[in-house]
Amino acid sequence: MQLPASQVAVLEAVNADEATAVDALAAATELPPETVTGAVFELEDEGLVAVSERTDETIDLTDEGRAYADEALPELRLYEAALEAGAGDEPVQMGQVIGRSGLEGPQVDIALSNYARKGYGAIDSGEITADPDADPDADPEANALEILADTGETAPDAVEVGDETVEGLESRGLLERSESILREVTLTERGVTELMAGLETAETVGQVTPELLTSGEWDDVEFAEYNVEADAERFEGGNVHILRQTAERVKDVLVGMGFQEMEGPHVDADFWINDCLFMPQDHPARTHWDRFALAEPTHIDELPADLIADVERAHREGVGPDGEGYHSPWDADFARALALRGHTTSLSTRYLSGEQIGEIEPPARYFSVEKVYRNDTLDPTHLLEFFQIEGWVMAEDLSVRDLMGTFEEFYAQFGITDIEFKPHYNPYTEPSFELFGTHPTTGELVEIGNSGIFREEMLEPLGVDCDVMAWGLALERLLMLMYGFEDIRDIHGTLCDLELLRNTEVTY
Ligand code: PHE
Repeated sequence: MQLPASQVAVLEAVNADEATAVDALAAATELPPETVTGAVFELEDEGLVAVSERTDETIDLTDEGRAYADEALPELRLYEAALEAGAGDEPVQMGQVIGRSGLEGPQVDIALSNYARKGYGAIDSGEITADPDADPDADPEANALEILADTGETAPDAVEVGDETVEGLESRGLLERSESILREVTLTERGVTELMAGLETAETVGQVTPELLTSGEWDDVEFAEYNVEADAERFEGGNVHILRQTAERVKDVLVGMGFQEMEGPHVDADFWINDCLFMPQDHPARTHWDRFALAEPTHIDELPADLIADVERAHREGVGPDGEGYHSPWDADFARALALRGHTTSLSTRYLSGEQIGEIEPPARYFSVEKVYRNDTLDPTHLLEFFQIEGWVMAEDLSVRDLMGTFEEFYAQFGITDIEFKPHYNPYTEPSFELFGTHPTTGELVEIGNSGIFREEMLEPLGVDCDVMAWGLALERLLMLMYGFEDIRDIHGTLCDLELLRNTEVTY
């Protein structure tokens, strides 16, 4: 006869001439008890074994029960003390007896509530008597505790002790009873015959196939068990890059703070990137080695003529009655030159000027999380392209406190609460501040952004006549503070740290 391996093992382990407990079968076959129980029921279905069941009661002393088994029940200690105090002859003051007994706290109450019930004497208006004929050695509860403590936890003791006493001790919380089912297995005649004829092990099937199902064979085979602890092959599925995931989170946070998103070209006219920011045309950052210019096309044609004139005037003469411009050359052709944007502040100038979506009325808040391009030297903290978190708030009467408060609110959403500010210079903001955070593993200060309040010389030509505070923050630097890596190239490019990228969970 063919049987699954576990059933063969169990059947062969059943004693020929007496009932065998499931526990004994589990020990003999080294199979888990639940597997043995399953196999036993299958074998019973096949008519190879008979199974009998009995319910076993287990008794365990509680900690308190065990303590009384060691030191005597409180009521017995009280009785002993009462006899010693002479309460066998006449009533004695309660306090005196209790003091002598050494009973304390709740044990006093326990002793008092069992004393009279069990016939050790009487307690009346603060006095106690002891019955000299009472026999503590015959106390059924004390004796039961002793038996159960000695012989432990098996049912037959209950027989010896008597049900009533067990119940009494249970209601005093001195023991606990639990039931378990004991199964015993005996071979049937058929079982014996099949064993003699020899058993074969049916193969185990790891996977259900259409053939198994249609042929009905599935009913006869044994299925391999799941091994949930086995090492499984690891599948490295695709995953959204942590930079993208964090960028999405940044956008959510800013939208939550009431900002709207800006969009605009990666390649833009120097006009939007620099001139509108009151960046003098001879500023070092505008020289050819700092920017990625375009070979084709080199220039943009359409720029709003009015705006060009206003921006040129601001550069040459400044704004307002006491304005001071740069008194340096300003060339519209230079402003038309195309380049990859070195910051997304080009989007801010487009939006502030009305060029992108028309006039914006204060109060207004805008942001972008977009790529910028700089001809920097690649190093652990500099990339040639990175993501900038650009933002600005347009409102009447903004102050530096508004700017700092906004950053504190923003960075706190990413668990960063130790932002530091340093005075800085930008041609387009006054005052200006650089932002720093502390690197979580090196403890070094890391520059994470640049900010300020836009100058009159920038805003006036754009047609804005209220305050605008603004910033550009580096997304990659935010990640460094959040996840503790030290080299920006860990998350970008061919040298990236795949383990870091796979295992970093974006939790904020
Ligand atoms: N454009 C600045 C930079 O790239 C950031 C900035 C934006 C600073 C707006 C102030 C105001 O560093």
